[in-house]
Amino acid sequence: MEDEDEEINPFKSLLTDEDDTPITFKTVQDDSPRQESLQKHFLRSVQSTVTIRQLPSYGISFQLWPTATTLVSLLDNHRINPTNSPLSTVFAIGAQLRILELGSGTGIVGIVAAATLGSDVTLTDLPHVVPNLKFNAEANAAVVGSSGGTVTSAPLRWGHAADVEMIGREFDVIVASDVVYHDHLYEPLIETLRLLLIGKKIVFLMAHTKRWKKESVFFNKARKHFLIDVLHVDAPCNGSRVGVVVYRFVGKS
Ligand SMILES: C[S@@+](CC[C@H](N)C(=O)[O-])C[C@H]1O[C@@H](n2cnc3c(N)ncnc32)[C@H](O)[C@@H]1O
Repeated sequence: MEDEDEEINPFKSLLTDEDDTPITFKTVQDDSPRQESLQKHFLRSVQSTVTIRQLPSYGISFQLWPTATTLVSLLDNHRINPTNSPLSTVFAIGAQLRILELGSGTGIVGIVAAATLGSDVTLTDLPHVVPNLKFNAEANAAVVGSSGGTVTSAPLRWGHAADVEMIGREFDVIVASDVVYHDHLYEPLIETLRLLLIGKKIVFLMAHTKRWKKESVFFNKARKHFLIDVLHVDAPCNGSRVGVVVYRFVGKS
């Protein structure tokens, strides 16, 4: 059992337990000094640039994670060539989809989904993260709007049924990237997924990069409620032995 927590991926060092502590919450309204960076991502499919504000000194929720970049590329490529896309079974062409993103962080995945698919996207995360989600949604409203999409932001804490009630369940697809990391979050995330997926014909699309062997616990628990298959695997990079994997979850009826 000793190797349960064995490091298998160098990205682990980016996510220490300390990072997970809800930093006595500075919010984006604080006057305290902050490091701010704007990242620009050109989307070939819509010939437009999405701009994302990161606030790395505020913690893990305010920075871009490599796993998100995989979904951004897949969404961009899907719009260019949907027939050969690994996402073709998830995102029907021509439908005005309603998409919910969990643990959005900076919101890049949801914003790019709205811009490339012309979808109505709801970005969600812990309450203190929502002001930065709103900032990024507003910063990209023109790009998203020109594709016929919309982006809204709301708090959604995993494991809180009342938060799901507030958001509603009228979604066609749920997406997330890099949301399986600390083991105390496994159960709450699965609980929220159960509330959203069970008894419905909707898909949860999840990009994940494996850091710890213990993450198999999440997948074993999740398999009790969901059928899970792999849609895409990235080649490993940055010295890692594993690449980003994109999973599709559907509720067991
Ligand atoms: C590693 S970050 C990934 C962020 C983003 N999805 C990305 O890939 O760039 C994990 C995200 O999950 C969010 N999160 C952690 N615990 C959560 C909870 N209990 N409820 C909702 N979101 C949570 C964090 O705030 C953070 O934004």
